[in-house]
Amino acid sequence: MNYIDVLCKKEFEGGVKDLKDGYRHRMLRSSGEIGEYIKKELCLSTSTDVGLLLDLCRGVKVKGMVLEVGTYYGAASIAMAMYSKMMDLGRVITIDRDMGETGDLCLDGFDLGLGEDFSMHIPGSYGVKRWSNLIYNCVRSNVGDWLIPIGCESLSALEFLNPSLRMLYVDGGHSYDVAKGDILGYGGKLVSGGLIVVDDYNEGHIGVKGAVNEVILGGEMFKDCRVEGSMVYGVKV
Ligand SMILES: C[S@@+](CC[C@H](N)C(=O)[O-])C[C@H]1O[C@@H](n2cnc3c(N)ncnc32)[C@H](O)[C@@H]1O
Repeated sequence: MNYIDVLCKKEFEGGVKDLKDGYRHRMLRSSGEIGEYIKKELCLSTSTDVGLLLDLCRGVKVKGMVLEVGTYYGAASIAMAMYSKMMDLGRVITIDRDMGETGDLCLDGFDLGLGEDFSMHIPGSYGVKRWSNLIYNCVRSNVGDWLIPIGCESLSALEFLNPSLRMLYVDGGHSYDVAKGDILGYGGKLVSGGLIVVDDYNEGHIGVKGAVNEVILGGEMFKDCRVEGSMVYGVKV
C-alpha cells in the first residue's frame, strides 16, 4: 500500500466522499503530505523536524518496529506510524510518562469533534488530555492499529518491553542519566543496521549532549553518525 486513507476537515483537496459529520476521506501518498497533515489538520506543533525524521525512516533497510521515547502530543509518533503503515513497515511504539491513566476518562459531555454519539468529558488533568488527544488523532489519521502508546517512565518500560527495532527516536527525558539510559537500553534493542535518532543535541540540553557525545559519537555501538540541526543519528553496528 503506498497511500494512507485519513479523515480530514481542513485544507482539503481530492477527498473521496463526504461523511455526515463533515469529515472526508483523503489519500496521503508521501512523507511531505503526512507532514502537512500533522501540522495543518491535526494542528500538532513540535520541535521535531518531522520531514527529516520521515526521510531518515525511509532510509532504514532492516526490518523491525519503530520506538519513540517522548510522545508529548504525538506529532512525531503519528507521523512515523502513518508513514510505516503506508509503506507496510513495522508498527510504532511510543512511550511517555505523562500520558495519564485511561481509567480517568469518563463518557459525558465534552465534545472532541467526533459528533454527538462520541461526546466525552475530559477531566482537567494534563495527562488525560494528552492521552485522549492522542487516541482521537490516531483514529483520524488511521493509525489506531499501528501506533502503540505506553504510559510509563521510559527506563521502567525497559523491564517489560523487548521489541526488535529498525529505528529508535529518543526525545524524552533531558537529564544525562535518563538520556544515556534510553540510548543504551533501547539502543540495545536495535537490530544491526537499525537507526538511532536523538533530538535536542544542543547547548540548552547539556545532559542529552553529554550522553550523545559519550555513547553515540564517542562510543562503539553506532557508526556513520551525523549531526543535523539538533538531531543526531547513527547506524547500529
Ligand atoms: C520534547 S517532548 C517530546 C516531543 C515529541 N517527540 C514530538 O515530536 O512532539 C518530551 C516528552 O518526554 C516525556 N518524558 C520526559 N521524561 C520522560 C521519562 N523519563 N520517561 C518517559 N517520558 C518522558 C515528557 O513527558 C514529554 O512529553
